[in-house]
Amino acid sequence: MNKAFPGYMGSRRDQVNELLRSAALDKPASLVAARPELDRMATACSYALTNGGKRVRAILVYAAYDAIDPAGAAPGIDPVACAIELIHSYSLVHDDLPAMDDDDLRRGQPTVHKAYDEATAILVGDGLQARAFELVADAPDLSAGQKVRIIKLLAEASGLQGMVGGQYIDIASIGKDLTLPQLQAMHALKTGALIRAALAMGGIAAGATDEQLAALDDYGRHIGLAFQVVDDILDVEGDTATLGKTQGKDGEANKPTYVKFMGLDGAKAEARRLLGNALAALDSFGESADHLRDLARYIVERDR
Ligand code: IPE
Ligand code: IPE
Ligand code: MG
Ligand code: MG
Ligand code: MG
Repeated sequence: MNKAFPGYMGSRRDQVNELLRSAALDKPASLVAARPELDRMATACSYALTNGGKRVRAILVYAAYDAIDPAGAAPGIDPVACAIELIHSYSLVHDDLPAMDDDDLRRGQPTVHKAYDEATAILVGDGLQARAFELVADAPDLSAGQKVRIIKLLAEASGLQGMVGGQYIDIASIGKDLTLPQLQAMHALKTGALIRAALAMGGIAAGATDEQLAALDDYGRHIGLAFQVVDDILDVEGDTATLGKTQGKDGEANKPTYVKFMGLDGAKAEARRLLGNALAALDSFGESADHLRDLARYIVERDR
């Protein structure tokens, strides 16, 4: 069973899917007219991006914006919401490569290197990553100052001090017993960093104060870590059809996970504890942060 998104999340997800098809992929598509030899590569980019992701990070961008400026129309952040999903989708294409997690199934379809080939998958990841920064740089409704701050945040969260660093630690830790602080640091980097960036970027676009940004970041730290703890739980308890990715891969690959460290019940208790902390971080906000509260509950209660 797929747990449905509440209304706000569902409509934001549909909006993001539409934007990804149009804004994010328009350029590769128009390029192909001039360079037909890129046709297969452009199709592979589209395959990697428009294939049913939950779009949680993009929805977090909108929900953070709405928490700060509930009356704002938020058109300025469409490119930012697309950018974070471009980075995330690139990270998944590379995560699935034979040299990394060696997965055949992603979002219910063959992974990009299976549907195409490894070299194409590597280049698709590289291309999606570059397109993310280009979209923010071209954003029509953000000031130059906002764009520079957002690009820097996205670069830091994507790079060695963020997702890439966490992914490296993950690969280098196979078969090792990490301590809890080491496991937490790995999860916070590989998954938490982009989620924190999504919140900060939405907040910056809405003109958040430093105090509001600090509260969003506190929420993001907890919910970002919870996201990966739940991913670890679903790898054990989920089913392949619902997940859209092969269940049981972490155990098979001897990955250090929260479930391996503290057992299923311990990991579930940890996810609930992190949810409580994430909700508490929003105490200074009124009902404008209800979408963030719903998202936090969704992240912990999801089945895919
Ligand atoms: C999966 O992310 C990889 C992790 C960082 C845990 P998601 O669960 O958000 O994947 P999609 O985008 O919905 O496919
Ligand atoms: C991936 O973590 C985190 C990324 C930065 C892509 P996982 O390797 O656990 O993600 P899944 O389970 O393959 O989606
Ligand atoms: Mg991985
Ligand atoms: Mg993986
Ligand atoms: Mg996983």
